[in-house]
Amino acid sequence: MTRKRRSQHWYGKLDKDGFIHRSWMKNQGFPDHVFDGRPIIGICNTWSELTPCNSGLRDLAEGVKRGVWEAGGFPVEFPVMSLGETQMKPTAMLFRNLLAMDVEESIRAYGIDGVVLLGGCDKTTPGQLMGAASVDLPTIVVSSGPMLNGKYRGKDIGSGTDVWKFSEAVRAGEMTLQDFMNAESGMSRSKGVCMTMGTASTMASLVEAMGMSLPTNAALPAVDARRMALAHMTGKRIVEMVDEDLKPSDILTKAAFENAILANAAVGGSTNAVVHLLALAGRVGVDLTLQDFEIGSDIPLLVNCMPSGKYLMEDFCYAGGMPVVLSELKSHLRPARTVLNKDISAHYEGAECFNRDVIHAFDDPVKPAAGLRVLRGNLAPNGAIVKPSAATDSLLETEGEAFVFDSIEDLKANIDRDDLPVTPETILVLKGCGPKGYPGMPEVGNMPIPAKLVKQGVRDMIRISDARMSGTAFGTVILHVSPEAQAGGPLALVKTGDSIRVSASKGELELLVDEQELAARRAAWRPDDPHYTRGYAKLYIDHVLQADRGADLDFLVGKDTRLVTRESH
Ligand code: FES
Repeated sequence: MTRKRRSQHWYGKLDKDGFIHRSWMKNQGFPDHVFDGRPIIGICNTWSELTPCNSGLRDLAEGVKRGVWEAGGFPVEFPVMSLGETQMKPTAMLFRNLLAMDVEESIRAYGIDGVVLLGGCDKTTPGQLMGAASVDLPTIVVSSGPMLNGKYRGKDIGSGTDVWKFSEAVRAGEMTLQDFMNAESGMSRSKGVCMTMGTASTMASLVEAMGMSLPTNAALPAVDARRMALAHMTGKRIVEMVDEDLKPSDILTKAAFENAILANAAVGGSTNAVVHLLALAGRVGVDLTLQDFEIGSDIPLLVNCMPSGKYLMEDFCYAGGMPVVLSELKSHLRPARTVLNKDISAHYEGAECFNRDVIHAFDDPVKPAAGLRVLRGNLAPNGAIVKPSAATDSLLETEGEAFVFDSIEDLKANIDRDDLPVTPETILVLKGCGPKGYPGMPEVGNMPIPAKLVKQGVRDMIRISDARMSGTAFGTVILHVSPEAQAGGPLALVKTGDSIRVSASKGELELLVDEQELAARRAAWRPDDPHYTRGYAKLYIDHVLQADRGADLDFLVGKDTRLVTRESH
């Protein structure tokens, strides 16, 4: 080893600065020899009691430390901002970029040589990856892992997915409020992330498909002892990665992103993966566009998990997990280097499926051609997306009249009105829920079905917005319309009664209003006053990019891998 380790610029100096860096660390009982030049591994932890999905990460950090010590490294755990998807208002997505800044600046400022990212809940995984990629030290991920299957009255119930179903059942008068409340504790029975193929498990699956974690990381339940062993093995591996100088820029190539897109289709993954992959690509300088997601559109749905199917992540794990999915995709996957310093094929070699109803074979899929579809047209010049595997096929090719909600408040105040002038064929449109407008692009795109239609048995309608939706949600929901209404996109001009044409097969989203009329509406349009005028939220509103660019902040795109040479004293 001829290269001077990065950490030695902190701990290897025999002067006042070296004294200060070492001496204060020694107040934790670390002996002299841990500063002898061995790899110092940062364990970047999003543990928090306010992020219940990540509440097991303190334990996993101990597993990582065992592995680091065993391999001859020196582990140091540090906290970063944690984003509790179900707990934060107005939306955890508003803070994904703030977490990314926290991670980036923490890694850059401290004397570490490699990083283990401990995350899980939806925004924590992309936020951490984005931050780490912008510094580009050797990095590897350990995810929280999913909760055990939800149980209620002898049946499996899934995080999120069954909340939406139960909530509609209460509104339809098919479920009592008491039963609704009783289901709460059965749904979340252990530490871990949502056990549906929501955004958290999607992102963990894509991390595995991109080769940024050890194999099996996505699906092992949070409380399965094998996840602790995985954390231990990850600790060992990151020490080797530092010696190999294997960095995110070596792994997160265009091929890795394409593999993630293919895997996202096969697992029936979250629409949120789109904004997160686009933002991550922007950090590492990979030219990824919304159009690239079309490579997944012919990939069949292989994983029969909610919300696109019927099983849960525990079942997915016992059926063989991501190694089986990757093995099924092998003729489509691009060659790509991973954290093992091998090709992605090493991550699925010898994979065996133990339940073909949970993970289908490529030639016997749950659904054919299930990848996300990108829609464009005069209503979404920069694109919008829809998830066919979670939609109603007959609604994906249609023309209908819009009923417009100008804001989330407008929707909440009126959606349950008995006299709401809507039919099952109406297209519901919601404005003001994009990155700048809400702000933060919340998961409200799967608007509730109007109560009067729910009572008639209607369970799906076309819904169009500049919002996102939860990865656990389902329905014929057109999302991420870009540019958003608040940025002056054509969505801002839609009025109740306008005709809209949707064609998923042709990738079209057209507002059927003539140009002259649209020009008159545009001349009269003014943006809403911003909801925040100070602090981080103002910074976000002023600098956030649109959904088709991943909703990163414009000044965070790219990376800075320089060593900080100036000392603090
Ligand atoms: Fe945290 Fe679903 S809310 S993973």
